Amino acid sequence: MAFDESLAARIRKRLRARAAPPLPAPGQTRKLFAATVRRPAGLDGESALRTNCAKPVFLHDGTIHDHFHQEISMTRTGTTTRSGTTRRGPPPPPPPTPPLPPPASLSASETRFETTRLFSTKNDLPETSRRQAVGLLNQRLAECIDLQAQCKQAHWNVKGPTFIALHKLFDEINEDVEDYVDLIAERIVQLGGVAEGTVGVVADRSTLVDYPLGLSTGAEHVAALSDALAMFGRTVRVGIDEMNDLQDADSADILTEISRGVDKWLWFVEAHQQGA
Ligand SMILES: [Fe+2]
Repeated sequence: MAFDESLAARIRKRLRARAAPPLPAPGQTRKLFAATVRRPAGLDGESALRTNCAKPVFLHDGTIHDHFHQEISMTRTGTTTRSGTTRRGPPPPPPPTPPLPPPASLSASETRFETTRLFSTKNDLPETSRRQAVGLLNQRLAECIDLQAQCKQAHWNVKGPTFIALHKLFDEINEDVEDYVDLIAERIVQLGGVAEGTVGVVADRSTLVDYPLGLSTGAEHVAALSDALAMFGRTVRVGIDEMNDLQDADSADILTEISRGVDKWLWFVEAHQQGA
């Protein structure tokens, strides 16, 4: 079954329109994906700038929502002389802008439209639509299973004065995300498809950033899990548009329900960062 190129073009156009905003100019502050970011003056480069300062900082290069607490990686724009003064040199050429990663699904799912086994069903949605919906929903399924594992990772490992509140909150989120996994997987099967939810498939297919293993404080886990929820929320919104394009209103409705829940949980987690 050939992939619908016009649909792919429409979805790619929509993904480009949803691209994350660029980093603020040096010295400027801007509200980015999940936090207000002040970009330090003197730092250059379009790649993600990472800091290990105590306060959670979110930075990304317009495509990747990065975690804080990693090694500093920055480009110097001046040279310190022996007298201790800093001679400003011409800024280095900007690094090449990496191509937009496939934030939603097409690169992973396109190939699967050809191979996905489709069982016969009396469901009256056209076979072409069902086949494409199965491929796209399997991509959402991988990301949802990844998100659920990340919730548990935060639930198990959070420490500090806010332990009990966050420990319970993260588990509540996990329980809802487990329901989302089931909703997506069973919709795939209703369409005649095979739900692909093994660990191997998830590791290969999920577009979420892997959860850092070295986190311990509440602030660190709040930052990391809000990253994951925001990234998943973005892919689900893209998925809603995809299902609408395929005229599969029921799959779009399922993803809308999930999107509403994920936005709520993102609020619950982010509220811990917003009181300061
Ligand atoms: Fe537990």
